[in-house]
Amino acid sequence: MKILVIGSGGREHSLCWAIAASPLTSKLYCAPGNAGIANVAECVAIDVMDFDRIVAFAREKQIEFVVIGPDNPLAGGLADRLAQAGIKHFGPSKAAAELEWSKGFTKELCEAEGIPTARFKRFTDAAAAKDYASDHPLPVVIKADGLALGKGVIIATTRAEASAAIDSMFAGTFGASGQSIVIEEFMQGEEASYFVLCDGENVLPLAAAQDHKRVGDGDVGPNTGGMGAYSPAAVFTPTIERQTMERIILPTVRGMKARGRPFKGVFYAGLMLTAEGPKLIEYNARFGDPECQVLMMRLKSDIVTLLLAVADGALKTVDARWRDEAALTVVMAARGYPEAPLKGTTIRGLDKAAAVEGVEIFHAGTVAKDGAIIANGGRVLNITALGRDVAEAKARAYRAVDLIDWPEGFTRRDIGWRAVGRS
Ligand code: AMP
Ligand code: GLY
Repeated sequence: MKILVIGSGGREHSLCWAIAASPLTSKLYCAPGNAGIANVAECVAIDVMDFDRIVAFAREKQIEFVVIGPDNPLAGGLADRLAQAGIKHFGPSKAAAELEWSKGFTKELCEAEGIPTARFKRFTDAAAAKDYASDHPLPVVIKADGLALGKGVIIATTRAEASAAIDSMFAGTFGASGQSIVIEEFMQGEEASYFVLCDGENVLPLAAAQDHKRVGDGDVGPNTGGMGAYSPAAVFTPTIERQTMERIILPTVRGMKARGRPFKGVFYAGLMLTAEGPKLIEYNARFGDPECQVLMMRLKSDIVTLLLAVADGALKTVDARWRDEAALTVVMAARGYPEAPLKGTTIRGLDKAAAVEGVEIFHAGTVAKDGAIIANGGRVLNITALGRDVAEAKARAYRAVDLIDWPEGFTRRDIGWRAVGRS
């Protein structure tokens, strides 16, 4: 089968790596891809938002299955365009992906379906929002409604901060995503991400992972897209998994179906594990990046079979098998990330690093130039390893990191600290 993956990050590299290994794959393309993806797929220079060219390319090459990686094309309706063109694809419709692109939509669904989440109120007017925030217990959480690249959330610990956050969101700091905001209660607990495939009706649990959103060791500094991740997450016990499925995932599946927006894709539930049980922080309608990288390392089953079952409404007929090992990934970012990453620097030593036992290197933001690998983004490499537990995966990943010669890159040194401390 000829398959096209949409995207250019580490998530897409790991998806391409797993898809390329499937006996069902006869030819794999990636648009636009990156220098690492080029080792497992043919990269084509088409932007993820250029839907006309994506459809034209898929027709020209007789692509039989398109796998959509990132959130933006989903929010823009790429799945709907492919459906109109009669091209089989993995990724929810725009209406179903509203679970990710509108926090207000998701919060209202939670309210209607009784899904545990932080108490909230949605506002389209700054004065009313400030009035509400003025006597809300602190800290109070202020969120821009739409996709804001993980930056549209402010946890205000003072009234002045809350008020400034509301003003800056309505002033358009986060673009159109700030025209509506959500103010919600602060939830105390440990965070975990849970990934579940859904074909609109049936679900297939994948696994849980934990990531590290802050740029600095000890979880300090600005928020990023994620500086590392690992799976499984011991904190996500079988009891918590069952509660999450019954109280959060299944009511969402039913609620979306009842609203005429059946969700076909992967639920990425961001959860707060509170004293009262798991509560939903947010949904994403795609695989996490870098969480996908650790899931692909652990997955024993054929990924193409699973993704096709989602598209075909046949999830009931498949199951997912996992390696006994844990996986951990360390993000190498370009100096200056997340504010102003330095681009254009040369990375050496990747072959030596990739030879460390259990290690796989996924590229997140690279280009090849005259035989050299050049950094071309904020998050640039994902050094990913399997190990018999998170501690061993961590040791292997950092052994590989230390073999990479890239003075302009940096990593956190403490990825996995919660899990390692626990075992
Ligand atoms: P989100 O973009 O909604 O995932 O929020 C980004 C991060 O903000 C989350 O990963 C949490 O660390 C934090 N956060 C969001 N909402 C809450 C909340 N209600 N209580 C505590 N932390 C939150
Ligand atoms: N790791 C966070 C994300 O994929 O949004």
